[in-house]
Amino acid sequence: MTVVLLGHGRLGSAIAEGWRLTGTVSDLTILTRAVPPVCPSDTRALLIAVKPAAWREAVAPLLTTLPVDAVVISVMAGVREADLSATLPGRAIARVMPTTAVAQGQGVAAIWSEAPAARALAHTLFDAVADTVDLDEEALIDAATAVAGSAPAFFYALAQALAAAGVEAGLTPEAAKRLTRGALRSAGSGAGTDASLDELIARIASPGGTTRAGLDALQDADLEAAGRAAVQAAVARAKALAGDQPA
Ligand SMILES: NC(=O)c1ccc[n+]([C@@H]2O[C@H](COP(=O)([O-])OP(=O)(O)OC[C@H]3O[C@@H](n4cnc5c(N)ncnc54)[C@H](OP(=O)(O)O)[C@@H]3O)[C@@H](O)[C@H]2O)c1
Repeated sequence: MTVVLLGHGRLGSAIAEGWRLTGTVSDLTILTRAVPPVCPSDTRALLIAVKPAAWREAVAPLLTTLPVDAVVISVMAGVREADLSATLPGRAIARVMPTTAVAQGQGVAAIWSEAPAARALAHTLFDAVADTVDLDEEALIDAATAVAGSAPAFFYALAQALAAAGVEAGLTPEAAKRLTRGALRSAGSGAGTDASLDELIARIASPGGTTRAGLDALQDADLEAAGRAAVQAAVARAKALAGDQPA
C-alpha cells in the first residue's frame, strides 16, 4: 500500500517510526518542505500531519497528483471534515487523533469517519501502533483529544505539583524530581496492563494506609472538578480554533 505522509514533525515522525517498527506500510513517501510536493499515482492514503495553520498551503500543491479515490487521513486537532472535504473534493476523509507513543507501537488513537472505507483504512494504518477507539460523532474528537492527546501534559502537571509538595515536605528539588518521575513511570507501566484503573489504585492504596489518606485529600480538594475543568477548557479551545465559537 502506498501512503503519503505530509509533515514529519513530532507526530508525523512518530507515526512513520511506528509504521517502520511494525511493518505497517510497505511504500511510504514522506513529504517535507525539502521534497517536491508530488503524490505517487498509486497513492491509497494521504496522512496530513502539519500544524492546523499550515495545512491549506501544504495541501494545495498536491491536489493535481493526489488520486481522487485516495483516502485523506487528518491527525490535525481542530480541523473539521467539512473544511478538509471542501479543499480536497471527492476524497473520503477520516480524522484520527493519536498520541506520539505510536512511535513505540504503544499509542492510543481515536478514529472518526463518515465513510466506512476511510474508517477501515484508518484502522489498517493505526491498529498496529495504537489502541484504536472508534468515535460515533466528529464532535467527540475534541473530547478524545483532551483525554488522550492533551492528558499526558495534565499528568505531568500533577507530577510537578506533587514534586513541589515533596520539596515543601523536606525533599531536595533533585530528589523530589527523580522520585516523581519514577512514580510517573510506575503509573505508566500499570496503565500498560489489562487491570482497570480501580484495580490499579486498589493495589497501592490499602484501607487506612498512607496512599488512601492522600487519595481522600485529593477528593476533598475536588480532583474531579479539576479534571472536568481541564477537559472542558481543552474542548472549548478546540471548538474556538475550528471557528465553532468565539476564541
Ligand atoms: N504532537 C502531538 O502530540 C500531536 C497529537 C495529536 C495531534 N497532533 C496534530 O498533529 C499535527 C502536527 O503536530 P506536530 O506536533 O507534529 O507539529 P510539528 O512538530 O510542528 O510538525 C509539523 C511539521 O509539518 C511540517 N510542514 C509544515 N508545512 C509543510 C509543508 N508545506 N510541506 C511539508 N511539511 C510541512 C513542518 O515543517 P517546518 O518545521 O519546516 O515548518 C513540521 O515538520 C498538528 O496538526 C497537531 O494538531 C499532534
